[in-house]
Amino acid sequence: MADDRLEIEQLRRELARHIINYHVLDRPAISDAEYDSLYARLVELERLHPEWVATDSPTQRVGATPAKDFPPVAHRVPMLSLANAYSEDELRDFDRRMRDLLGQDAIVYVAEPKLDGLSVELVYENGLFVRGSTRGDGATGEDVTANLRTIRSIPLRLGVDAPPALLEVRGEVYIETQAFRSVNERRAADGLPLFANPRNLAAGSLRQLDPRVTAERPLRMACYDIGTADGITISTQRELLAALPRLGLPVNPLFAVCEDGDDIAAFYCRMQDEREGLPYETDGVVIKIDRFDLRRKAGNVSRSPRWAVAGKFPAEQAVTRLRDIIVSVGRTGVLTPIAVLDPVRVRGVEISSATLHNEDDIQAKDLRIGDRVVVQRAGDVIPHITGPRQELRDGSERPFAMPSSCPSCGSPVVRLEGEAACRCLNTTCPARIKQSLWHFASKGALDVDGLGEKLIDQLVDRGLVSRLGDLFRLDRETLAELDRMGPVSADRLARALEDARTVSLARFLYGLGIPEVGASTADLLARHAGSLDRIAGISRDELLTLPTVGPRTADAVVDYFANEENRKTLADLLEVGLRAAPVAPPAQTDGTLAGKRFVFTGTLSGMTRDEAARRVQALGATAVGSVSRRTDYVVAGAEPGAKADAARALGIPVLSEPDFIALLESPHG
Ligand code: IVH
Repeated sequence: MADDRLEIEQLRRELARHIINYHVLDRPAISDAEYDSLYARLVELERLHPEWVATDSPTQRVGATPAKDFPPVAHRVPMLSLANAYSEDELRDFDRRMRDLLGQDAIVYVAEPKLDGLSVELVYENGLFVRGSTRGDGATGEDVTANLRTIRSIPLRLGVDAPPALLEVRGEVYIETQAFRSVNERRAADGLPLFANPRNLAAGSLRQLDPRVTAERPLRMACYDIGTADGITISTQRELLAALPRLGLPVNPLFAVCEDGDDIAAFYCRMQDEREGLPYETDGVVIKIDRFDLRRKAGNVSRSPRWAVAGKFPAEQAVTRLRDIIVSVGRTGVLTPIAVLDPVRVRGVEISSATLHNEDDIQAKDLRIGDRVVVQRAGDVIPHITGPRQELRDGSERPFAMPSSCPSCGSPVVRLEGEAACRCLNTTCPARIKQSLWHFASKGALDVDGLGEKLIDQLVDRGLVSRLGDLFRLDRETLAELDRMGPVSADRLARALEDARTVSLARFLYGLGIPEVGASTADLLARHAGSLDRIAGISRDELLTLPTVGPRTADAVVDYFANEENRKTLADLLEVGLRAAPVAPPAQTDGTLAGKRFVFTGTLSGMTRDEAARRVQALGATAVGSVSRRTDYVVAGAEPGAKADAARALGIPVLSEPDFIALLESPHG
């Protein structure tokens, strides 16, 4: 018994350390699987001894019961907002004003990206996280402690032996662009209303009454300011950015020290150029006087400090004509209205269509076909329409109505109670089948080379394929008769289909297109259950024991396998000889590239990007799309994009093509 207590404490400390390594320092010391097994052991021991469960145990992040509302919290030091500047000139003026005001020849500033999230305050008493609140009106915010506890990068206890008696830390809760997109993709598939931008998602998630919902949203935190501090002395922003990570608190490693107006203007321009390559959205920069004593001297005006300014980037909007609204049918039958636009360039990218989410969205914005509309690109997120320019109407505009029958199969369209989406419920609807096939054959799933959209259209339209399993009944002769197929491509596709018959369980599960189950959840399920039979019979409760599975995912999995139609599809796949291998084919994990993340940008001369990706995969590494702090190498070919700049900004090595080849061919590579 006493041994258990000791082990609980050790596990708690060890897991807290790994959480900091992973979420704050971006230097994981153990694999995810090792982490999961330590975590599972702690859950097991704490179940046996509930009396020893401490409030700062990593298992207690989602323990709190839903709040009825959020009680008010008064900020000891008010949380201010910032005055804005909109150009390099206005930023230079700011420097001039500060030098005049403070009677200094030169002032040192710290410049940071302005994160587009929600500002919060965390309170640590004797090292323990006791309370967290939103900014609110600056004087009083809302108590969102239970929700903040679910964010892994927020330590429940500061990672030092002698913590300060009191520390109030301020920072931004935000979500990375990629994670924002996945959340919206899942919601679209479920017919739920989408979040307009990452900031709304972060704000909506933090103000959830049920912390379990917050826990499912991949929120992050970056700290950039302190309120009251007792027992720790910090006197400049540079010291702050160095001291916080030592306490286990996350900061954004991207910042610059500026010594004059030129430096400030240069940082503003650089961030504007590089923002596309950053993993999060930023709408500007924040320039702050480094020395706290000078800040006190400068003081505040109404609700903003004089010593800091936000340099906002110009808006990325354009006005164009909404030519038409067409409706597409997704895998799960959800009908999505899509805006067809007169092509227009926004921040260097030509935009000719945009998703309109659902009928309510169109009504709420009062969009009519023929309207001039404002198109906006936020970060690298899919463009969206913010609204019509009503003053430009000439009376020829027509309102849009959702069709009452499916544009693909003609079955009646229904809108289920409590849902924003309209759905086609016909499981044999050609549009739904096409989307399912496309997903099933896609790269992350069965990866059938040569089975593209046009071919799938033909196969379904000619009645050759009406279920996933039918793909494996196609022979060379049938394939060769399709448009744009000759005997050689037919042969190649037939072989690709043959190869796809044996697939890892994780890829197979992902390919089924179960709502809520993306590639990483599919991987988790496959590793946990080990076989398709076990997953098909798994209970909701068992699913909920898995670290990243929440109630929605658990329900989606159980519902999927309970559905008669899906059971038929699965039985059919087994009948045609598809085999889901219990474990993934072993990746080579002993190379020095094992576990490394590569990003490719620009054109390589000696190989395609796909080949390059396969070569790193063969050595146990992965190729990912965008640069983040977890990227290990960026390989830059000819005319590299902003990704290379982003990598340099983050201190990630940027390899030329010859460097990259040398790395691949080095003896241990
Ligand atoms: S410093 C006294 N630094 O911008 C103001 N703010 O418009 C202290 N923000 O409410 C804020 N990134 O939510 C600071 N690197 C950064 C920031 C940042 C985003 C937000 C913050 C603040 C708002 C002001």
